[in-house]
Formats: sequence, structure tokens, C-alpha cells
Amino acid sequence: MNQIRLNKYISECGIASRRKADELIEQGRVVVNGKTVREMGMKINPSVDNIIVDGQSLRIENKVYFLLNKPKGFVTTTKDDKKRLTVIELIKTNKKIFPVGRLDFNTTGVLLLTNDGEFSNLITHPSNKVPRIYKVKIDRPISEEHRSKMMSGLTLDRKKSKFESIEFIKESNHVWLRVTAMEGRNHFVKNMFQALGYNVLELEREKFDGFTVDNLKYGEYRKITKDELKKFYETYA
Ligand code: URA
Repeated sequence: MNQIRLNKYISECGIASRRKADELIEQGRVVVNGKTVREMGMKINPSVDNIIVDGQSLRIENKVYFLLNKPKGFVTTTKDDKKRLTVIELIKTNKKIFPVGRLDFNTTGVLLLTNDGEFSNLITHPSNKVPRIYKVKIDRPISEEHRSKMMSGLTLDRKKSKFESIEFIKESNHVWLRVTAMEGRNHFVKNMFQALGYNVLELEREKFDGFTVDNLKYGEYRKITKDELKKFYETYA
């Protein structure tokens, strides 16, 4: 990056408007390479100059957003103590991304990854009730009684927990189900079934809010578009 005006740089880092950045400079709260700066028109080079505002180092971090079709056999973390493969290794980027929420080691399907903490908080915050749709295979056909119990609510970790819907993928086969959950506690789907004595054998997240894997194969990913983000923010922000 070339030279850029100091006030423009401060505002691009997202901490203040251009005018507010001028005020910060005037008030002597901005330090460039160890020296307090009060000169309004100063230009800096963000790649080499060290800018500190109110004691905090600044850096423009371009936000990136990916949608991965997670394959089995990958952990949803940035690092793994047991040296297993992580989902981060599937994405080519020089940005410090992290997964949004979590899918289990052998769960497949929609996984978002980003370096935008605010986006991640927004989409995972329980109060936003963002729908997640899962395709599930359980170890025996579900009874009608249990199906309605999971939709009216049961107690998990002392919290009322439920699925919004449970459909049969095939009417003739009650072990393959499609369930909708509005929350993303760890192992939520497995724990819901486990609570009534069923084991989950296969789990795939088909949809998270409006995001689906479409024609991505396992392990493939794409960037989320500006329009998709705009739509998301119109719904939840
Ligand atoms: N619920 C689970 O139990 N596991 C997942 O991976 C996702 C939701």
C-alpha cells in the first residue's frame, strides 16, 4: 500500500469517522512510529508505519467470508492439539480466518469461515434465531411420540430445547430425517436425539440461514458475495 493520509487511514480501520480522526489527532491521541502527531495532513504508509491510537495499534484488516462444504474427518478449529486436519487447511487465504460456530469431526455441510468477529457473533447469537437445517440419520426409526416431544421441547443442560420441525426425508423410512434448529449449541442435534435414546449416525448441515452448499463438493468452498452479506445484514442487524 502506498502513502495515505493519516485521518483517512484511521477512519478506514473503522474506529472513527474522518472528522473524528482529525479530532483524535488534534487531541494528541495518535502516535506514529513512537511520536505523537498533531499535523493534520500527515501521510503514512500502513505497511511500514506503526500507528497507535489511544494506546491501541491499528491495522486495516480486510474482511473475508467463505462458505465451505465441510468434509468428514476435519476439526472445526484453527489449531488441533492432536494434529488432526483442521477446516482452516482447506481454505487458501493469507487472512487469519476462523470457523463460525462448529461442526463435529464427522459432520458435513455448510460451514462459514471469516475474520469478521462481529459477523460471526451476529449469525451465531441465540437471540437472532438463525435457522439451521440438518439432514440426520439415526440408528432406529423415530416414534411419533418422540418426534412431537422434540418439537414441543425437552430439557437439555437445564435449558428448554427443541427442533422447529422434523420431517421424514422419505415417508417409508423413518431413520433419515430433516430437522430445523434455531440454535447452535455444541452437539445440539446429537444431544437432542441422545436424550431420547437415539444415536446419530450421519449428520449434514444443509442450510445455515440462507447459505447452502449448492454444487460445492465436499472440501470445496467459495467466497460469500456482497449481495449475500447485504441480505444477511438486512435481516439480522
Ligand atoms: N449438532 C451436532 O450434534 N453436531 C454438529 O456437528 C452440528 C450440530
